[in-house]
Amino acid sequence: MAANEKATLSMNGKQYELDVIVGTEGEQSVDIRNLRADSGFITLDNGYANTGACQSGITFLNGEKGILRHRGYSIEDLCENATFLETAFLLIYGELPSESQLAAFTDDITRHTLLHENMRNFFQGFPLRAHPMAILSSMVCSLSAFYQDTYNALDPDHTDLTVVRLLAKIPTIAAFAYKKSIGQPYVYPDNSLNYCENIIKMFFAVPCEEFELDSDKAKALDQLLILHADHEQNCSTSTVRLVGSSLANLYSAISAACCALWGPLHGGANQAVIEMLDQIAKDGNNVKKYVDLAKDKDSSFRLMGFGHRVYKNFDPRARIIKKTCDKILAKEGIHDPLLDIAKQLEQVALEDEYFVERKLYPNVDFYSGILYRALGIPKDMFTVMFAIGRLPGWIAQWREMVTDPATRIGRPRQIYTGPQARDFIPIAKRESLPGRTAGLDRVTPHE
Ligand code: ACO
Repeated sequence: MAANEKATLSMNGKQYELDVIVGTEGEQSVDIRNLRADSGFITLDNGYANTGACQSGITFLNGEKGILRHRGYSIEDLCENATFLETAFLLIYGELPSESQLAAFTDDITRHTLLHENMRNFFQGFPLRAHPMAILSSMVCSLSAFYQDTYNALDPDHTDLTVVRLLAKIPTIAAFAYKKSIGQPYVYPDNSLNYCENIIKMFFAVPCEEFELDSDKAKALDQLLILHADHEQNCSTSTVRLVGSSLANLYSAISAACCALWGPLHGGANQAVIEMLDQIAKDGNNVKKYVDLAKDKDSSFRLMGFGHRVYKNFDPRARIIKKTCDKILAKEGIHDPLLDIAKQLEQVALEDEYFVERKLYPNVDFYSGILYRALGIPKDMFTVMFAIGRLPGWIAQWREMVTDPATRIGRPRQIYTGPQARDFIPIAKRESLPGRTAGLDRVTPHE
């Protein structure tokens, strides 16, 4: 975007003129790219909460108004009218696909769903209880060992093939990770099915009986994936951009994003929500106790699934998912006691001054866990499902970054607060650092 006007900064008796850059939705920024060179000052912004790291044409969100749009299309419209693969194409290539483009894209993805047979051996090596996110991130990184022929981030043909491979193979990796965790045989992809039907079959079919597909469940999953497809510069997406800015291959950048997503403050929150609801249920459904605990400044407990760095009004994704959640539960005749607790929690928190004042609303993860449960997906797999959904966004943001001439390797600065220069102390004269004398006797050596 063009610089429209200037901002003036006064420091140490000097004035600095900074460009003001305005986005297409009127978002304003002060361009500080030359500030350090001109003044010696850097900006300090923990968590980058007020720092624009790039200009991006992919996703617009307005946290105050609860708006989320991809390439100009509202999340509500996409959920109503598009499929996940159409949304993926839109995010990655910038426009909705024509009929023939969508057919070709779908066909390419369908024909790349198999994993190299050698990769099956890797699954065997993981312990039975391995978290599937550990398996997913390792396996995605392993893909880079199999496809070294398409590493060049600046070659569009390499990128197109890598995009297809990632979108095609990650659901297969996810399903194999699940089957490994429950000791069932892997189910190979079925090219006669659509993307989400295939995921459901790979997860739940067993070779000894006929598999019945429920198209409503496949549609609900498709919608869940659309809802997660991109969310501009969140933690995992910024990870993709940071890792990718070194021109590391796309598989490794996506693997790093999986690791970032795993954390309970990010994609791991959907699992944490169900664990929290479980804990409340075991504790006699005492919702008030946990609301009070979340408000207690002496406790580190937070209501999982509440609050968002950007949405300070409501999370539009949460509204859509809540409806689908109610629909599937009603259709399946599922009475989920955790849903009752979730509803009570939502009610109490929405009326409580602490949450109202801080604008803490249920986010997408609050309901997605309940819907995943209704689809039969176990809680350890929730974040894996989120990763499948977020994949097009990660790819689109990476692709935008590598083709943007303004991109530089990601390298934030810091304000150093450690000791100033001091003389080296010989070992005989050093004091012991309190608490660091004993070895790690809690851990079995060489474990
Ligand atoms: N429960 C209780 N209090 C909360 C919660 C919560 N879930 N979230 C924020 N607060 C409080 C904080 O204690 C703080 O209070 P204070 O001003 O009195 O100190 C205030 O609200 C602001 O919170 P911050 O931590 O500054 O907000 P931030 O934007 O840094 O964090 C986050 C956002 C990480 C999502 C936070 O709300 C949280 O931890 N939520 C629970 C985890 C969760 O649901 N994560 C999923 C996010 S969505 C996603 O990744 C798809």
